[in-house]
Amino acid sequence: MSNSAVEARLLTRTLPGEIPVTLVRDIDLTVAKGEFLAITGPSGSGKSSLLYLLGLLDVPTSGSVLIGGRETTGLDPDRLAEIRLAAIGFVFQFHFLLPEFTCLANVEIPIRRLSKLSPRQAREHAAFLLESLELSDHARKHPDQLSGGQRQRVAIARALANDPSLILADEPTGNLDTRTAHLVFDLFRTLAHEQGRTVVVVTHDHELAQSADRRIHLVDGRISG
Ligand SMILES: Nc1ncnc2c1ncn2[C@@H]1O[C@H](COP(=O)(O)OP(=O)(O)OP(=O)(O)O)[C@@H](O)[C@H]1O
Ligand SMILES: [Mg+2]
Repeated sequence: MSNSAVEARLLTRTLPGEIPVTLVRDIDLTVAKGEFLAITGPSGSGKSSLLYLLGLLDVPTSGSVLIGGRETTGLDPDRLAEIRLAAIGFVFQFHFLLPEFTCLANVEIPIRRLSKLSPRQAREHAAFLLESLELSDHARKHPDQLSGGQRQRVAIARALANDPSLILADEPTGNLDTRTAHLVFDLFRTLAHEQGRTVVVVTHDHELAQSADRRIHLVDGRISG
């Protein structure tokens, strides 16, 4: 069994056009199972682009992405969507919770989509995840009734819905105060170190990045350190 959760091999993504734009170039990266990695770099350096490629939300122009040691490049879109739903949890800077649903329903929906659990089990698991993030009191509320930090924790609960081995977060603390940002990073560390999940977080915040196991820095779509 592979010890790597996600690997990039000479990963390059170029947007075609009259003047092609290269988002990331020749990225070689191996993230071990249970590792907590931070990606830093200036605005426009390709951090989000890299995360989308690692999360199979975008397809490379050349090179490849391996998830759990298995090649994903060339798989058809339905298979990529299955891998995403079952193995990868995403947290974005803006939470993208569905405003018309309760927090509980927001966490429950991806569980129902995977359809491994019965509807009742799905609801119970969603409630359990909210409880583990100390959100039980808010389960029946809608996202707009919560604070920014609470919403971000609901988004993390949703990312954990299908027990993903890989969690990818794009500036998840960008809109949070310092204290809440530290809580979110503490939570990521727990997910990696106590639950053996792999966490890759893009952040502008160098202090927060220091609390990860390892950091890579992007400049102009390449790893520069
Ligand atoms: N759809 C697109 N069309 C054209 N250029 C794009 C597109 N998406 C990204 N880019 C460009 O690709 C480069 C990398 O963008 P990306 O969003 O990955 O950077 P980033 O490091 O996440 O930046 P930020 O810190 O501002 O979020 C930037 O120069 C950006 O302008
Ligand atoms: Mg970005």
